Amino acid sequence: MNDIIDQIKAPTKEQFEAVYKFTQTLHSLIYQDALIEEALDQVVKAIDAERGLFARYNNVNNDFTIIAARNIKQETITSLNEFSSGILKEVLNSKKPIMYHDVQQQPDLSKFESVRISGIKSVIGVPVFHEKEIWGIIIADSQKFREKFTKQNLVMLELFSRLISIALDRIIEIELLRLEKISLENQLEENVNLPDMIGESKPMKDLAKLIHRVAKTDATVLITGESGTGKDLVARAIHKLSKRKDKPYLAQFCGSIPDNLLESELFGYKKGAFTGANSDKKGLLEVANEGTFFLDEIADISTALQTKLLRVIENQEIIRLGDTQVKKINVRIITATNKNLSDLVKKGEFREDLYYRLNVFPVRIPTLRERQGDIPLLAEYYIKRIGEGNISIDSAAMKKLEQHHWPGNVRQLINVIQRALIFAENGKIGTDAIELDETHNENIYTGTLDEITKNIVVKRIEEFGGNKTLAAESLGVSRKWIYIKLAEIEKKKNG
Ligand SMILES: Nc1ncnc2c1ncn2[C@@H]1O[C@H](COP(=O)(O)OP(=O)(O)OP(=O)(O)O)[C@@H](O)[C@H]1O
Ligand SMILES: [Mg+2]
Repeated sequence: MNDIIDQIKAPTKEQFEAVYKFTQTLHSLIYQDALIEEALDQVVKAIDAERGLFARYNNVNNDFTIIAARNIKQETITSLNEFSSGILKEVLNSKKPIMYHDVQQQPDLSKFESVRISGIKSVIGVPVFHEKEIWGIIIADSQKFREKFTKQNLVMLELFSRLISIALDRIIEIELLRLEKISLENQLEENVNLPDMIGESKPMKDLAKLIHRVAKTDATVLITGESGTGKDLVARAIHKLSKRKDKPYLAQFCGSIPDNLLESELFGYKKGAFTGANSDKKGLLEVANEGTFFLDEIADISTALQTKLLRVIENQEIIRLGDTQVKKINVRIITATNKNLSDLVKKGEFREDLYYRLNVFPVRIPTLRERQGDIPLLAEYYIKRIGEGNISIDSAAMKKLEQHHWPGNVRQLINVIQRALIFAENGKIGTDAIELDETHNENIYTGTLDEITKNIVVKRIEEFGGNKTLAAESLGVSRKWIYIKLAEIEKKKNG
């Protein structure tokens, strides 16, 4: 290269101008195509070529695609391809710039129709590299006004090639970052949704993020939340989002089921284990092998079963009733309760060691009151689903739903909607169709106004899981006011 540089003269004004213009645009180009278009324009000017093209090399298929061309009619690109593919291959193999003069005299080049027809006299080709590999090739040719390209032209072209490479590295990096950003944004979008669960509020988005995170692990999850908040749906969502999703998901309700029945369901039994055990039976924990097992209402299981369950979790093994053989299982355990398990532990009604084993990853589902913004979404969703799209709700009725406190959460909301759909008139749910069950409020309305007020305060704090700030917000009063009322209640109790 140095010997070539020794031979070149000072650049012409046109050459200098072309390089200058190109370098000026480099920092603002952020797309590969735009870079190539701009480069080709300046290259053609700098070496005073009549025609130029840029071919992108595809190393998987080992072929070229022309992505930009100058002064070449669209229809001639195919025939030119035939000629230029020979030049492209040569540059590709040698990884060096090439220059041909008197093309017409070269048998292996002049045989191409395009060379003869267009009277190409001189051709020049230079590779553009990305990460030391050929990324593309620039070809320019001359037909009429001149006999041949000079070595100076070749150096010029090499200079352009290097400038393109530098800009290319930056553009490709930007493009990768752009793609990564889109994919991360998509992931983020996915992470705030849960299968079959409606909710756009902050507490629901937080819940969704938490569930997406825990679903990826094999950790035992304890789901807590008031009745009707969606514990069942969350357990299912964890399974569906986990790597066990194609394996079984089984659930067992543990509340108010006789102990021995629950035990034989969970662990199975051997023939003759008890009267009526006429054949061997697999337990559900065994059936759920490799999948997920959801134990609903875990607070209700007996102390004896608590001990057995502890063994399952600690050793991942079960023994069927009446059997001696130990079976290894691989099951992810999810449990749920609407009771306060740690209180039960304190009272000695629930094994502390089991509680810690179950509570590896606690997930608390917010009450509907804590996410009142989701009420319209849920209402619209269920009105459409149950009402088959024929019934709508008026704004006053919606307001009534939004202002209610929903002690029975989503389940209660669905019940109210079911009833409202029956009482809808002319395809519209009005306030009259919405009957809110106020029985839970019954006993708080006794006594003097002051007593009723205090009852409401206590009840509301309860409904917000002890959160006085939320309770105050929902009553439209200050936290301070709440504290004053609580102090008055204390005072009355004590004296
Ligand atoms: N976010 C939600 N989006 C849509 N439907 C929901 C949502 N949460 C709960 N539901 C619906 O509300 C009803 C009650 O939910 P689920 O049975 O999961 O509650 P739960 O917490 O298990 O209640 P319980 O403690 O009484 O068993 C179901 O019909 C469920 O589909
Ligand atoms: Mg449930």
